[in-house]
Amino acid sequence: MELRHLRYFVAVAEERNFTRAAKRLHIAQPPLSRQIQQLEETLDVQLFERNARPLKLTETGKFFYEHAVQLLAKTSELESMTRRVGNIERSMSVGFVASTLYGLLPKIIRRFRDENPTVELSLHEMSTMDQIRALKDGIIDVGFGRIRMEDANIRRVVLREEKMIVAFPLGHPLALAKPIAALRDLIDETLIVYPKTPRPSYADQVLAAFQDRGLKPRKIYEVREIQIALGLVAAGEGISIVPSSVYGLKRDDVSYRELDDPTLVSPIIMSMRAMDESRDIKEMLALVYRLYEDEQIPHVPSADKAP
Ligand code: BEZ
Repeated sequence: MELRHLRYFVAVAEERNFTRAAKRLHIAQPPLSRQIQQLEETLDVQLFERNARPLKLTETGKFFYEHAVQLLAKTSELESMTRRVGNIERSMSVGFVASTLYGLLPKIIRRFRDENPTVELSLHEMSTMDQIRALKDGIIDVGFGRIRMEDANIRRVVLREEKMIVAFPLGHPLALAKPIAALRDLIDETLIVYPKTPRPSYADQVLAAFQDRGLKPRKIYEVREIQIALGLVAAGEGISIVPSSVYGLKRDDVSYRELDDPTLVSPIIMSMRAMDESRDIKEMLALVYRLYEDEQIPHVPSADKAP
């Protein structure tokens, strides 16, 4: 059995008709029928019910279809990844979660472009979980996200643990009362968290911070993204826990306070395909560490520097 047989079979199963399937595959109908017959003979099973119009899969056919579709998807993943690995023209697609735009991401991208003018760089905003899928599908080459997870096909490097801070509406009594906030003082406020979907997300890191300390916010308001959360804070709808780089976004209708607990952090994690040893990935990682050193930003030491 060859991949060709799987492609032919899937087309016939999906079109439920040999003429339409042959058209989709750009081949004539008689060779297509012969190939399917050959496939049934090789497997010594019946994949389609005899004489049913439109064509109908047997139970065995349904089983074979499920697995054939998965195998073909894997094949196209392998094709696109291999093409990327062997690509002579250098290109790099970067996935990122929105909040990293308030941190070093813009600087990293500008510096990378300056230092590597022949590399075509493209940026794609997506959740951490979508980054993992997109890496496997060859859609992106590197992702910057915040969710900790394990996947044998993905290498992940925790770059730094970014402090969380509280965003209050301007003039909020809690912000006026103390220069440093404590989570337990916030439970009577409406807590605005983001992103609402997909989960797990940064929202779960914030909710876990309360839960781990046995605290339960009175009201939780889930919104799509960070800008909406900050806009609602400014409107006096509630408070939000955000990564400290958001502080750089000096809104005059929001006031930020540090939290009293240094363990309240959200990681910035770089993800790449486990087998990707390309020069561009190495340069991107080295550039991040160089910027951390230049700007004296506390970070997790590079594995290359570990004793
Ligand atoms: C940072 O802010 O540390 C950062 C943001 C995006 C990519 C890498 C690092």
